[in-house]
Amino acid sequence: MTAPIPLSLGNLALSRKEDFKAFASAPRREQPELLTKAELKALSPGAKAIYDRSRREWHANLGPIRTPQLAELHEDLWDIVDSNVQDGDKAKGAVAVDAFPGLGKTTSVLAFLREFHHREIAENGEYTDQGHERLPVCRVGLTGNTGMKDLNRSLLEFFGHPGRNRGTTAQFGQRALDCVLSCEVRLLALDDLHFLKWRQSSGIEVSNHLKWIANEFPVTLLMIGVGLVDKGLFSEGGATQDEALAQTGRRTTRLGMRPFTIESEAGRREWRQMLLALEQRVVLADRHPGMLADDLSDYLFARSTGHIGSLMTLINRGCQRAVRSGTECLTRDLLDRVKNDEASEAARKELEAALEKRRLTSRPRSRRKKAA
Ligand SMILES: Nc1ncnc2c1ncn2[C@@H]1O[C@H](COP(=O)(O)OP(=O)(O)O)[C@@H](O)[C@H]1O
Ligand SMILES: [Mg+2]
Repeated sequence: MTAPIPLSLGNLALSRKEDFKAFASAPRREQPELLTKAELKALSPGAKAIYDRSRREWHANLGPIRTPQLAELHEDLWDIVDSNVQDGDKAKGAVAVDAFPGLGKTTSVLAFLREFHHREIAENGEYTDQGHERLPVCRVGLTGNTGMKDLNRSLLEFFGHPGRNRGTTAQFGQRALDCVLSCEVRLLALDDLHFLKWRQSSGIEVSNHLKWIANEFPVTLLMIGVGLVDKGLFSEGGATQDEALAQTGRRTTRLGMRPFTIESEAGRREWRQMLLALEQRVVLADRHPGMLADDLSDYLFARSTGHIGSLMTLINRGCQRAVRSGTECLTRDLLDRVKNDEASEAARKELEAALEKRRLTSRPRSRRKKAA
């Protein structure tokens, strides 16, 4: 019942090839069996502790759920990646996934990278014709204030290149290119690209650098970040004297991710589908059909304002509390005591007022009478 693999996955930063491969090849987590309250009571203290631990890990890692947002992003990514099989000397189109934090960019892109990794390995084998390890995906996550040299170094870190500690920016770049070529990388994903130092002295450098990568590396460049549009990644020349950025912009396709909304009937149906899927994954003895989708629909929308990150945090923390306290059910009362992130708390007040006055509802039409 307790799978050992997820435990070790807890330490992965996914910025090294070994980590990424471990992530890509880890089997899906197994949902702990749902016990009734009587069955829970009958467990010995030792067995209860093991059971609760497996639920703790399960609830902390619910997902990824195939939301419409994730499915749409994957479709678009497949279109672009599959149309990018020109010969290596032609520059390939780049992609920018640009949306606010907490909307599921990293999660959805990782799920895609994982599928892409498997497809490429299945089609082409674990090793290249030259006998190198095949790595269809190179993925690095940037952290605060990364310059160009740091970016190149992080690419070398991914490959575990011995020359990652000494050298110039250009040398690092050349070595990274060598790795990309020998491992036959097809997709280069740079997550949290907004951490690059853009507009100071190195701003031009960085944009030139992205252009260099897009031109020289025979890969689809997948950039992920917040406010990349504002950073000038897509500016079309003219007004800006920044030629390099304009060049990047022309060949880059921008993909967004949207929050859930409840203004339209279609939106409310999506929200309900999401809650129904989520319900199925909650392993609490007193869970019942409609626990989230009927009883807590408005409440959860108000608290998350349709942001999947906030919703998942709330459900995760709520489940932990329901297990710990023995409540074994998610209710408004219990969730009221669970803290969420600041941004969603601020938006919550306003939304709750509107929901209470019935000016707004998160429930699809067919569900309203029943729940009222
Ligand atoms: N499709 C999904 N299914 C389940 N949980 C998700 C999904 N997408 C995002 N999440 C949760 O929301 C949180 C924020 O997502 P993340 O991918 O980190 O957003 P971003 O990269 O846009 O800031 C994560 O902790 C993740 O658990
Ligand atoms: Mg992210």
